[in-house]
Amino acid sequence: MDLTKYVANIKDFPEEGIIFRDVTPLMKDHNAFKETIDRFVIWANSLEAKVDIVAGPEARGFLFGCPVAYSINAGFVPVRKPGKLPRETVCESYALEYGTNEVHIHADSIKQGQKVIIVDDLLATGGTVEATIKLVEKLGGEVIGIAFLIELEELKGRDKLEGYNIYSMLKY
Ligand code: PRP
Ligand code: ADE
Repeated sequence: MDLTKYVANIKDFPEEGIIFRDVTPLMKDHNAFKETIDRFVIWANSLEAKVDIVAGPEARGFLFGCPVAYSINAGFVPVRKPGKLPRETVCESYALEYGTNEVHIHADSIKQGQKVIIVDDLLATGGTVEATIKLVEKLGGEVIGIAFLIELEELKGRDKLEGYNIYSMLKY
């Protein structure tokens, strides 16, 4: 199945010069969404170790990370924007393709030595995933893989992820 047919390309959103890759049509189509999750699951099950935790950055990382976690019998840990998590957190700031932000994770959400994968809809500059890796590693987790539905290759986010096992389904 050609999943690119289910990604809408929106020119100049949210700012001039950005082509926004909208995954909501893919999620609305149950066959395309199932195919996407199935591909993530095949990849996750091919890793060298059993995954304990899927970490997903807010918000679109939740949409893909949760069904993957459920399917591979792993736990899900949300990586959230400031002011959302109610208990003690650790945090990292990062730059976006547009703007800057900070991500938080509950301090007790990952235990020393747990095997973690990060799942998100899209890799752009790599700022979000780089900050997410730092949070997981601060807590003693081992990032054994990172998966995206979409990689925007010209933004070279992958350069920030040297040494990690990266999977991206669709490259633009
Ligand atoms: C988007 C996307 C990734 C991130 C990629 O999330 O879902 O998480 O940007 O960009 P980067 O590689 O340059 O960091 P966004 O922060 O827009 O939040 P949302 O999922 O809540 O829309
Ligand atoms: N997040 C960062 N850049 C993006 C883009 N071009 N489309 C959708 N989400 C994004």
